[in-house]
Amino acid sequence: MTFYVYVEPDAERRSTVGSLYADYGFDVVSDLDDLDAHLPRNPETLLVMIGATVDLEAALTFTSYQRVQRPLIGVLLLRRTLEPDVLARAMRAGIREVLEELDAEGIRVAAARSIDLSKALSTSMRSAGDQAQAAKIITVFAGKGGCGKSVVATNLAAALSGDGNRRVLLVDLALQFGDVAIMLQLPPNRSFSDAISMGGKVDEAGLRSVITPYRPGMDALLAPSSPAEGEHVSRELVTEVLEVARGMYDYIILDTPPAVTDQVLSALDLSDWFVPIVTPDLPTLKSVRLTIEMFDLLEYPRDRRLVVFNRANTEVGLTTEDVEEAVGAHLSVHVPSSRDVPVSVNRGVPIVLQDPTHPVSLAMRRLADRCSGVMSSQETRRKLFAFGRRR
Ligand SMILES: Nc1ncnc2c1ncn2[C@@H]1O[C@H](COP(=O)(O)OP(=O)(O)OP(=O)(O)O)[C@@H](O)[C@H]1O
Ligand SMILES: [Mg+2]
Repeated sequence: MTFYVYVEPDAERRSTVGSLYADYGFDVVSDLDDLDAHLPRNPETLLVMIGATVDLEAALTFTSYQRVQRPLIGVLLLRRTLEPDVLARAMRAGIREVLEELDAEGIRVAAARSIDLSKALSTSMRSAGDQAQAAKIITVFAGKGGCGKSVVATNLAAALSGDGNRRVLLVDLALQFGDVAIMLQLPPNRSFSDAISMGGKVDEAGLRSVITPYRPGMDALLAPSSPAEGEHVSRELVTEVLEVARGMYDYIILDTPPAVTDQVLSALDLSDWFVPIVTPDLPTLKSVRLTIEMFDLLEYPRDRRLVVFNRANTEVGLTTEDVEEAVGAHLSVHVPSSRDVPVSVNRGVPIVLQDPTHPVSLAMRRLADRCSGVMSSQETRRKLFAFGRRR
């Protein structure tokens, strides 16, 4: 496998310069057209040396183009002599270094440096790619108790798992008085407390051993069954568990206690979506406003917040506009109030599974669609309109 390719139209140079670097084992081509044909066939190429007799303009055009097409490839430009204006133009085009064609040592060092840089770039591009594969973390919370966090978190998780085509983990971060086990009727045999002893060395197998499967595509990590144990779940352990779980699932949904604990903060730091729950009563509105102000301070991106207005149809004399004004944020999803919700909670089956066409279930699925990037036709129109206006 050869990482290098040397382009030189002049046959004599090809052999003299080529022999200087024979120990590198590089490929030699005679012009840029040949190089164009060579690169797709040799995708491992990391370095192109452009010979001294290749036309400067052609070399610059080629480099500018490759910089976009194959950003991993470094280009070194060899010239008979070094001229300052050539240097400047070369740098602008993205050539990594310009060297005298007979400066064997200089070329050797520059080539090694460029290869190192390309390899480092390749690693960071690959890990950026892995990140794109990693689970989206969605944290559901509210500053106050009883707003419907656990109802929303369990239903959102169930809605996202669909027919089992997505892998979803529901994590109960209400570590002292978690309700997920009850709401899903799961036996509390395995929980976050079993992960405490794994602190610092959580891996996939370890995490699987503390997770409770719920239905195809959906697992839960339950809160400890005794409140005292919840205190031993450190912020670091939460981060570690989420980092490992990220590689195993498509979505991780976090249910939280009615307070911003240390553990909640570590989850918020890793979150892709922030889902505050508001209900139409003044104490809740106030607490949500404070939370949203905290988000601004922590610089959690605004376009990643999906405010859920729960019990939206409750007649208390507050309009949607009043609520938006009070919390200082747009309401993304309205969930109606319905006595079927406590019924589903008592039965231990999320309403989206029990009654998929119920208005509450439809709202939960809209929230799931927002988290998975599906836009409603209304939003699509709005975006297109905004795009049209910018042009
Ligand atoms: N849309 C709704 N319509 C009717 N009842 C609802 C609705 N959403 C939640 N509830 C009821 O409100 C109660 C509190 O809901 P939930 O347990 O989800 O709140 P929470 O925010 O998780 O509370 P906590 O802070 O105690 O964990 C439950 O009894 C639930 O059935
Ligand atoms: Mg709860």
